[in-house]
Amino acid sequence: MFARITGIGSFLPGQAVSNDDLARRGIETSDEWITSRTGISFRHLAEDGQTASDLGLEASRRALVAAGLEASDVDLIIVATSTPDFIFPSTACLLQSKLGNHGATAFDVQAVCSGFVYALTIADKFIRSGSHKRALVVGSEVFSRILDWSDRATCVLFGDGAGAVVVEASERPGILSTALHADGAHHGILSVPGSICRGQVTGDPFLRMDGQAVFKFAVRVLAEVGEECCKAAGIPSSDLDWVIPHQANTRILEATARRMKLPMDKVIVTVDRHGNTSAASIPLALDEAVRDQRIQAGQKVLLEGVGGGFTWGAVLFEF
Ligand code: UT7
Repeated sequence: MFARITGIGSFLPGQAVSNDDLARRGIETSDEWITSRTGISFRHLAEDGQTASDLGLEASRRALVAAGLEASDVDLIIVATSTPDFIFPSTACLLQSKLGNHGATAFDVQAVCSGFVYALTIADKFIRSGSHKRALVVGSEVFSRILDWSDRATCVLFGDGAGAVVVEASERPGILSTALHADGAHHGILSVPGSICRGQVTGDPFLRMDGQAVFKFAVRVLAEVGEECCKAAGIPSSDLDWVIPHQANTRILEATARRMKLPMDKVIVTVDRHGNTSAASIPLALDEAVRDQRIQAGQKVLLEGVGGGFTWGAVLFEF
């Protein structure tokens, strides 16, 4: 029994916001600096009041249509997000309510930019155990809410969006291998180190990052976990048709491809137009590449995430 991706959808809120738009809004930056250091030209930012469950709802509806299913057909809903609507209930429960599904297992996964590969791996294990038949796996983020817009070294990097996949039990091959890791010793290089206590924010509610430390860590573990996942599936990485790493920065994508000895034309890149959408970045890129027919039935696709925690992981599947 395999878990197979049978439908994909995504959603980007509002209009594309360019680097020049950010400079016009008073951020001391330039299109030249942002594109040369990150490859990012645009990102989308949610409207006031638009939440992770709202973005996830649009992406989920599109994924369900692509799979030919109704919301009531899914028995598992997992949302990967670090920007939940509320402290509780989970964004997965809020999404479930908006979708009109009653009774499915529903919970959130918090693994920051690795969240989608964590959530998809969990869905794979639920489905292969036989306990669940059809899962909706969503990555949805409104990172614009946790950015310090006076910190130009971080605020230009991120965007908002959502992506979703339907995963179904199938005798045809689907997910071939998965690998998940974390090392909390590195929690300090990327974090939002605040919390709510007695009705007050305590600590710092904004994203803080040591960019260069994150860069080096990300490149090393993305290459390692990609190789680990290929080995577990018994295929050389040269047999991969496509790689979709977490979309943080084109320089990270290029360095990862070099380490894995893969040409860049096998790497799906959307960070230039989406920015870093954390847990949403991989399903957003997957949806784009399936809809524009680059990814074809039967091809082997490697998804790779890395993010705060530090967390990292990969999922290798046959489409
Ligand atoms: O999901 C994981 C998310 N994290 C990442 O993807 C981050 C990975 N790291 C990176 O991509 C890079 O480290 C950055 C793009 C974040 C930064 O690039 P860098 O080459 O490491 O630059 P830096 O932080 O060392 O800053 C270099 C200069 C500084 O100026 P001075 O001190 O040399 O005068 C910064 O103040 O660039 C300046 N700077 C900016 N200038 C214009 C920083 N941010 C900006 C900006 N616009 N937005």
